[in-house]
Amino acid sequence: MNAPDNAQKTQPALDVAHVRKQFPVLHQHVHDNKRLAYLDNAATTQKPEAVLNALDRYYRYDNSNVHRGVHALAARATQGYEQARARIARFANASEAGTVFTRGTTEAINLVAYSHVLPALQPGDEILLTEMEHHANIVPWQLIAERAGARIVVAPVHEDGRLDLDAWRVRLNARTRMAAFVHVSNTLGTVNPVAEMVAEARKQGVSTLIDGAQAVAHIPLQFEDLGADFYTFSAHKLYGPTGFGVLLAKPELLAAMPPWQGGGDMIDTVSFEGTTYADGPARFEAGTPHIAGAIGLAAAIDWLDAQGLRAAKAHEDALLAQALEAIDDVPGLQLFGTAPGKAAIIAFNLEGAHASDVSSLLDMQGVAVRVGHHCTMPLHARFGLSGTARASFAIYNDADDIAQFASALRKARDMLR
Ligand code: ALA
Repeated sequence: MNAPDNAQKTQPALDVAHVRKQFPVLHQHVHDNKRLAYLDNAATTQKPEAVLNALDRYYRYDNSNVHRGVHALAARATQGYEQARARIARFANASEAGTVFTRGTTEAINLVAYSHVLPALQPGDEILLTEMEHHANIVPWQLIAERAGARIVVAPVHEDGRLDLDAWRVRLNARTRMAAFVHVSNTLGTVNPVAEMVAEARKQGVSTLIDGAQAVAHIPLQFEDLGADFYTFSAHKLYGPTGFGVLLAKPELLAAMPPWQGGGDMIDTVSFEGTTYADGPARFEAGTPHIAGAIGLAAAIDWLDAQGLRAAKAHEDALLAQALEAIDDVPGLQLFGTAPGKAAIIAFNLEGAHASDVSSLLDMQGVAVRVGHHCTMPLHARFGLSGTARASFAIYNDADDIAQFASALRKARDMLR
């Protein structure tokens, strides 16, 4: 899935000053005029002018419902919504017929759990997860396992945050009905070898779902080459709007899946004697959808493509290296997740200090990081922790953000001794 080396070398470097100019939210001061260093990108990314303008334009000039009216605005809204599907499918190297719009990654995983896995789930069946999953890729499986009398099986992670691939392999067996795993860990930054994992699962006839929420803004996605059955992501971590996400699926699997939520737009015919359902993505998009969400995500993808995803990734990798070097000598710094090739996410604690105190002191100096369990309680429990602070980087972060983070962390260390 990664670019060949020669493609990396010919990629022009990112002009971060030019990128930053396009994000109005970054140019503000917080807490007594402190420059904002926004390092909470794994929670949500900020939106460039191109996305803000696309949303504004849609609501200002085209707002209507889709697939329903024949008037000019309805036609424009429908065209915008379906053109967005084509754009998003192209970005992911997936088919339009297999690109379903959802409220986000969480809803996409629930959709697969209830519509693809639960109908055939038997007592004693197994669902294979990993210890580094986000709650969104744990709880839906627990809910359906409870209903069917199935079991959740978990593969452990190594001390450095790598998945124990041998242990994962051993847990794949004839009873496994689904192997669901994260592409990039939102806490550790670990990038899992998803292509290899899909190939292993396929050898054993096991369905696969990849949670790509933290991956899509950083790693080029080739869904069809990957061979996974399902891949999920959210628009808001890809410089797009909140409340919108995507389920990529093999179209033949969607065709065999029963509807999950019922309502308008997902039907073919309705009568009190019985209802028949639409084919394709529409079957899973009941009710008025988040039309602006689709249009906003397509605009975000256009914008990111123009910057160059590989250039963005190289920039973020450099930021990670600079940040790790800048904070390396902070006394008592503990890092969680040091796997080789990890994404630009740093989960950390300061020895003897509570993560929320550290994060509050960073915030007072204008540095926005996330604190807590980051929706990965089992992973934190594996490391004997109740929480960590987490700095995560995006395309618009720069050397000033790193310097501000490092200096704020030193100050926090001094204050928390
Ligand atoms: N899953 C998001 C995070 O990691 C919200 O912060």
